[in-house]
Amino acid sequence: MSEQFDLTIIGTGPGGYVCAIRAAQLGMKVAVVEKRATHGGTCLNIGCIPSKALLHASELYEEAGHNFAKLGIAVDGLNVDLPGMLKHKDDTVKSNTSGIEFLFKKNKITAFHGWGSIEAPGKVKVTPDEGDAQVIESKHIVIATGSDSANLPGIEIDEKRVVTSTGAIDLQEVPEKMIVVGAGVIGLELGSVWARLGAEVTVVEFLDRILPGMDGEVAKNFQRTLKKQGFKFKLSTKVTNVDKSGDKLNVTVEPADGGEAEALDADVVLVAIGRTPYTEGLGLEEAGVELDERRRVKTDDHYKTNVDGIYAIGDVVAGPMLAHKAEDEGVALAEILAGQAGHVNYDVIPGVVYTNPEVASVGKTEEEVKDAGIEYKVGKFQFTANGRAKAMLATDGFVKIIADKNTDRVLGAHIVGKGAGEMIHELAVLMEFGGSAEDLARTCHAHPTMSEAVREAAMGCGDGTIHM
Ligand code: FAD
Ligand code: NAI
Repeated sequence: MSEQFDLTIIGTGPGGYVCAIRAAQLGMKVAVVEKRATHGGTCLNIGCIPSKALLHASELYEEAGHNFAKLGIAVDGLNVDLPGMLKHKDDTVKSNTSGIEFLFKKNKITAFHGWGSIEAPGKVKVTPDEGDAQVIESKHIVIATGSDSANLPGIEIDEKRVVTSTGAIDLQEVPEKMIVVGAGVIGLELGSVWARLGAEVTVVEFLDRILPGMDGEVAKNFQRTLKKQGFKFKLSTKVTNVDKSGDKLNVTVEPADGGEAEALDADVVLVAIGRTPYTEGLGLEEAGVELDERRRVKTDDHYKTNVDGIYAIGDVVAGPMLAHKAEDEGVALAEILAGQAGHVNYDVIPGVVYTNPEVASVGKTEEEVKDAGIEYKVGKFQFTANGRAKAMLATDGFVKIIADKNTDRVLGAHIVGKGAGEMIHELAVLMEFGGSAEDLARTCHAHPTMSEAVREAAMGCGDGTIHM
């Protein structure tokens, strides 16, 4: 007789592992199935965590080279020790993934290693790399299989010279020239890592702007900053071919609307044009689980698919492909299955680009409020007028708060600046509580902090800023 569980989750990324822990805390008997040797999914193994380890190390290297002398710190013989930096990244990954293993044990979650697929509603088949497959029985099944890098048709990835993010966090040499295809989050973050370490980075983007989906003014301002850092941009441009036959890669680009082709050379090409949901080989079709037009698993508001007992969360369903969105869905689903009122507020999911300066946003962009016909006002404050920013040589960027013109309720907030990814959370909390710009403007903020710029931007939605 096979083992019987209340809940079996396929995939132990941020969606799956968080759902498993919360469900176990709520008294369910939980199993997880993971095809990788380690838990934590894309995020911990090849995504959020390793990229941030490299972003942090390369940012300090750049600071040391550019700003230390201005701060009165003399640095002699500054060098990149790439193997050391990659080791820091690998150690960080290991410490995080083994943390999940510990949490599974602590919460008495049974972990199976192997390929998970749905044999039938209530039955999950686990096929290990070696040995026999087994079927486990489970009242509920959660698909939390995440996503994979999207391919550029006709361009073969080898993860050495033509890479996705997975190869780009493990390059064994700093490339002289790197071409990044796609000016989205991955392209700009990993492009920053290698630019700081000495690569000449050219970003080729199909659209006429960077960071589609982000506030337009923020994206324009940020692009100027990246240009100052040495990034080159080819917007409204597409890559049509990468020839690998020579020592250098020969990359053909063309205007997005067609026109004369141009050849660029590069040592590494990073393809970062988005991610696709991981729905193959899971037995979804056989079980009758419906997918949407982008091959994401279709669910209702309670993460239930069209088949009773089968649910889905995280990158494999609609919505932003973010770790914290997957985690929050994991918690909400566990609570719903336990008979509680699990809920995710999709209007208040922050997004952060971990470059230097960082770009952070929550809620609506100015374009979105305009398109929705909402009467709005905008408060802004530049970090050039913030005392702490001056002391830290971190004056690049600004805060922009968008509030309803009639009710003063904050609808969206956008920050470009050092530490923006931390500062955005006071706005997220404010928005969760339906707060107004005046609520924020009247809240005492410690001096001198970068966060005073956030308060000043809120003041800008009302009677005006003090320091600008
Ligand atoms: P995943 O993390 O993809 O986990 C799915 C798991 O399912 C994987 O471990 C996979 O091996 C397993 N699996 C798939 N199919 C099967 C199967 N049939 N059987 C068994 N196991 C299976 N997001 C942020 O919020 N912040 C960031 O800073 C950030 N940085 C990123 C950087 C990079 C380079 C990348 C690529 C992504 C980044 N993301 C970031 C996105 C983030 O990683 C994803 O949104 C998040 O991992 C999604 O979680 P998930 O649980 O849905 O899926
Ligand atoms: P993305 O969707 O952020 O950006 C892809 C970019 O590529 C877009 O600007 C798009 O217009 C462009 N593009 C698409 N096809 C193209 C083509 N053929 N030629 C040129 N440009 C093309 O996707 P990205 O950067 O790959 O990241 C995938 C996901 O991972 C994102 O959705 C993001 O949510 C998540 N992620 C989040 C991070 C964070 O939160 N800090 C960090 C890294 C990834």
